[in-house]
Amino acid sequence: MKTSSIALLVLFHTILSLAYSFATPSSIHENFLQCLSLHSDPSIPIYTPNTSSYSSILQFSVRNLRFSTPTTPKPELIITALHESHVQAAVICSRKYGLHLRIRSGGHDYEGLSYASDVPFVIVDLLNIQSISVDAENGTAWVQAGATIGQLYHNIAVKSRTYGFPAGICPTVGIGGHLSGGGYGALLRKYGLAADNIVDARLVNVDGKILDRKSMGEDLFWAIRGGGGASFGVILSYKINLVPVPPIVTVFRFNKNLEEGATALVEKWQYVADKLPQDLFIRIVVNVVNSTQREERTVQASFQALFLGGVDKLIPIMEQRFPELGLARENCTEMSWIQSVLYFAGFPINGSSEVLVDRTPLNPLDYFKAKSDYVTEPISITGLEGIWKMLLEENRPEVIFSPYGGRMSEISESAIPFPHRVENIYKIQHLVYWQEQGLKASRDHIAWIRRLYRYLIPYVSKFPRAAYLNYRDIDLGQSKNGTASYSEAKVWGIKYFKNNFDRLVKVKSKVDPDNFFRNEQSIPAVPSWAKKN
Ligand SMILES: Cc1cc2nc3c(=O)[nH]c(=O)nc-3n(C[C@H](O)[C@H](O)[C@H](O)COP(=O)(O)OP(=O)(O)OC[C@H]3O[C@@H](n4cnc5c(N)ncnc54)[C@H](O)[C@@H]3O)c2cc1C
Ligand SMILES: *[C@@H]1O[C@H](CO)[C@@H](O)[C@H](O)[C@H]1NC(C)=O
Ligand SMILES: *[C@@H]1O[C@H](CO)[C@@H](O)[C@H](O)[C@H]1NC(C)=O
Ligand SMILES: *[C@@H]1O[C@H](CO)[C@@H](O)[C@H](O)[C@H]1NC(C)=O
Ligand SMILES: *[C@@H]1O[C@H](CO)[C@@H](O)[C@H](O)[C@H]1NC(C)=O
Ligand SMILES: *[C@@H]1O[C@H](CO)[C@@H](O)[C@H](O)[C@H]1NC(C)=O
Ligand SMILES: *[C@@H]1O[C@H](CO)[C@@H](O)[C@H](O)[C@H]1NC(C)=O
Repeated sequence: MKTSSIALLVLFHTILSLAYSFATPSSIHENFLQCLSLHSDPSIPIYTPNTSSYSSILQFSVRNLRFSTPTTPKPELIITALHESHVQAAVICSRKYGLHLRIRSGGHDYEGLSYASDVPFVIVDLLNIQSISVDAENGTAWVQAGATIGQLYHNIAVKSRTYGFPAGICPTVGIGGHLSGGGYGALLRKYGLAADNIVDARLVNVDGKILDRKSMGEDLFWAIRGGGGASFGVILSYKINLVPVPPIVTVFRFNKNLEEGATALVEKWQYVADKLPQDLFIRIVVNVVNSTQREERTVQASFQALFLGGVDKLIPIMEQRFPELGLARENCTEMSWIQSVLYFAGFPINGSSEVLVDRTPLNPLDYFKAKSDYVTEPISITGLEGIWKMLLEENRPEVIFSPYGGRMSEISESAIPFPHRVENIYKIQHLVYWQEQGLKASRDHIAWIRRLYRYLIPYVSKFPRAAYLNYRDIDLGQSKNGTASYSEAKVWGIKYFKNNFDRLVKVKSKVDPDNFFRNEQSIPAVPSWAKKN
């Protein structure tokens, strides 16, 4: 390096440190608050650690106790936007004063990325941006990002008996994270993902401007349907196509433990589940229960199904395709689609769907850690038995097998950033829950799930070992300050997005070249890519 450039560097460094010494945290704070009031209106709700309700506002949307401990980094400020203009102000002012911004809708992020960060940060929380307008005549709806999918389902059911929507099973999940990351539930084999059914969107970009599909252009619109919203802007709302559902659907939940032949049934299911008619979705939830036959814990496989039709049509299909299960009419219940939503969510089916509007989870919160895998070849009996053996080592483990095929196989890998399509038989979600506090418990349970993940290497997808963005897993790689290089980010990016990763980087580089919207697993900006086609 030449002397002159060193001198320049030193000068530059001095200016930088001067800038920092003038802008102490509290003056940044004041300037920031001034900026907010300048760019919005006095009604903008702001919570600092000194505000009495700061903690309850922060806790309200936390869904994993791992990120709600005394040592979890807390935001300097929470803005619970009431209007779109408040979101614009949050973006404009945090960018202007170099504050790191986290975006939260439903707070279900598995790694707490929407409300915790190692870098000092503020949160824009969209929980109050939650209106939904269902157009039952045209079969569409506009839904704001802070609404939950339960609120969406309830609003659809109030307006129409013939429409539904193919999003997730847990009603408290937020639209903002869920739809921008994919989103699936029991209608997946018939209608694909929630993100496959988005037709328009409104978002606040890095300049604080509101864009819709037309003004953002098709590249950015593509990116926010599966690429995760947090790398690209703040999603305000999505317009979705509703999907037709019949007046009568049928559900069953059919439990078999190891002593009742669960292993052979799970093995057979792998050859059947993705090839069934698209109207039939049968997932398997595997966990550990007290055996009724023996004084020991055992593994239980719960076959849980939604069929878009009556039981008279379902039974012959099951007799032909999966007779080993031995499903009888008595094991099935007919109901409306919205009742099936209540059923899968664990609510009484005869009650009002109004319960879906409640943002408070049905069950007490747990500490948990989860991972995901895709399966392209059936796992052998021996392979399955190895999984069961590992499950029996844990207190509250769970694995969920969700069938693919049907509509999922018809959509191309590049239609949206979510790439996991025709090659898959099913997806596995691995989970472990616990209630013990403290670092040791966390370490032990996380170590267990990492062992399970290692055990599964021979049985699951390879090159890349694919993963589902909405089951975010920081073990796949991360950047603590959100500034990963292309090659660092590619490690996890290729698992979540396969060949779509590069296109996401291109979009990111165009719309946010300075990488304002970032987190531990965000899409990196490569400025020289901004002009690439
Ligand atoms: C109990 C539970 C059940 C679940 N069930 C299912 C299921 O059935 N099917 C399924 O597919 N998934 C399921 N998930 C996963 C869920 O889809 C993801 O966690 C999803 O990202 C959550 O969205 P959120 O808005 O609630 O979360 P948040 O934590 O608010 O956000 C998740 C991510 O999206 C970003 N984000 C949020 N809002 C916006 C926005 N408006 N603009 C830009 N970026 C934003 C956040 O910054 C964060 O990175 C479940 C999760 C939990 C905890
Ligand atoms: C919070 O209160 C403390 C003590 O009362 C004060 O020193 C501090 O400046 C306050 N912080 C903010 C952000 O208002
Ligand atoms: C249905 O869509 C048409 C065309 O976009 C629109 O004019 C009409 O108002 C919509 N119907 C309702 C009920 O909003
Ligand atoms: C199926 O229904 C029959 C008849 O009611 C019942 O005996 C059996 O236990 C049910 N099977 C399962 C697995 O629920
Ligand atoms: C299983 O049995 C143990 C010991 O009897 C008990 O503590 C536990 O609650 C039981 N678990 C379930 C799921 O019933
Ligand atoms: C729901 O209502 C129907 C009809 O009134 C009844 O037959 C059924 O048993 C009820 N189911 C439950 C779970 O209460
Ligand atoms: C982010 O962290 C990496 C090391 O992990 C460091 O090299 C880089 O300079 C940091 N970037 C910023 C902007 O702090």
